[in-house]
Amino acid sequence: MNWKTRVTELLKIKYPIIQGGLAHLAYSDLAAAVSNAGGLGQVTAMSLSSPEKLRDEIQKVKKLTDKPFGVNFAIGQHGRPFSDYLDIAIEEDVPVISMTGGNPAPIFDQLKGVNVKKLVLVAAKRQAVKAEELGADAVMVVGQEGGGHLGRDDIGTFVLVPQVADAVSIPVIASGGIGDGRGLMAALSLGADGIEMGTRFVATKECVHASELYKNRLVEGTENDTVVIKRTIGAPARVIANPWSDKILEIEKQNGGYEQLKNYISGNANKKYIYEGKEQEGFAWAGQVMGLIKDIPSVEELFERIIAEGETIRGKWTN
Ligand SMILES: Cc1cc2nc3c(=O)[nH]c(=O)nc-3n(C[C@H](O)[C@H](O)[C@H](O)COP(=O)(O)O)c2cc1C
Repeated sequence: MNWKTRVTELLKIKYPIIQGGLAHLAYSDLAAAVSNAGGLGQVTAMSLSSPEKLRDEIQKVKKLTDKPFGVNFAIGQHGRPFSDYLDIAIEEDVPVISMTGGNPAPIFDQLKGVNVKKLVLVAAKRQAVKAEELGADAVMVVGQEGGGHLGRDDIGTFVLVPQVADAVSIPVIASGGIGDGRGLMAALSLGADGIEMGTRFVATKECVHASELYKNRLVEGTENDTVVIKRTIGAPARVIANPWSDKILEIEKQNGGYEQLKNYISGNANKKYIYEGKEQEGFAWAGQVMGLIKDIPSVEELFERIIAEGETIRGKWTN
């Protein structure tokens, strides 16, 4: 079956499937596995402790695959200046840059005249329109089912994607709550030209930095086992529900504010859970799609499965 869409054409990939930026988890192993499987893998820039480390990681991806890949910039979220990192991505001739988490205008300024595809992750129609005005080549639209940071409006993927598809003329990539071939075909039906997945890719063999405990929680957990934290500080984000997230929500209920929350929502607390599997000492991002995750396949197996499911669905439609 032909999987050509505006997204596969734009990014020069075989299947319209993108691995989202995954803070502290999206390194060369995962990015290259996704790109080798026919999708677009990404390295998350701001998880690396220095721009030179980003260069090393990009060079590792290039050794592992000759296919296109991206570098993700979650700006604002980690608070560190990104411009030196972006210079490295430009020097290394990275084919795709994706961005989220803040005003992307400075990234567009720095990328002026650079031959790179620019993707912006948004969570609202107005942000998608703005991204198109700034010069985005495509927008990724994340609904409130998604793992990690979300929009403030609580709009689900099914309502958001068709509206964004109507509002912009650039390709739209649906994100949030997608984990299988049914999700892929639904997204294409909603007017998207591709999908982005985050949580599903954490529960794969090549997400080598994620602890066994984290992956097992994604397999065992249901769609009811996530909660949204940080709403009271204007940065809602979905995590696996655990005693640590209970504590965060308790502080928020008492209007604790950033100062009281900061140790609980820090990168260190995140790493305790996701790297060391210490779930009593931290938190882990995850979306409601964990209710659909039943195993930890290799990325290649996951792609084969999603594409086979998609082809079965298309077969039913055309019969
Ligand atoms: C563990 C994890 C870490 C994430 N970190 C980032 C990040 O650093 N940058 C980013 O753009 N998005 C990040 N996201 C969001 C994903 O890229 C993606 O948009 C989201 O996971 C889609 O929803 P899904 O989890 O239902 O697939 C993260 C998501 C997860 C689950």
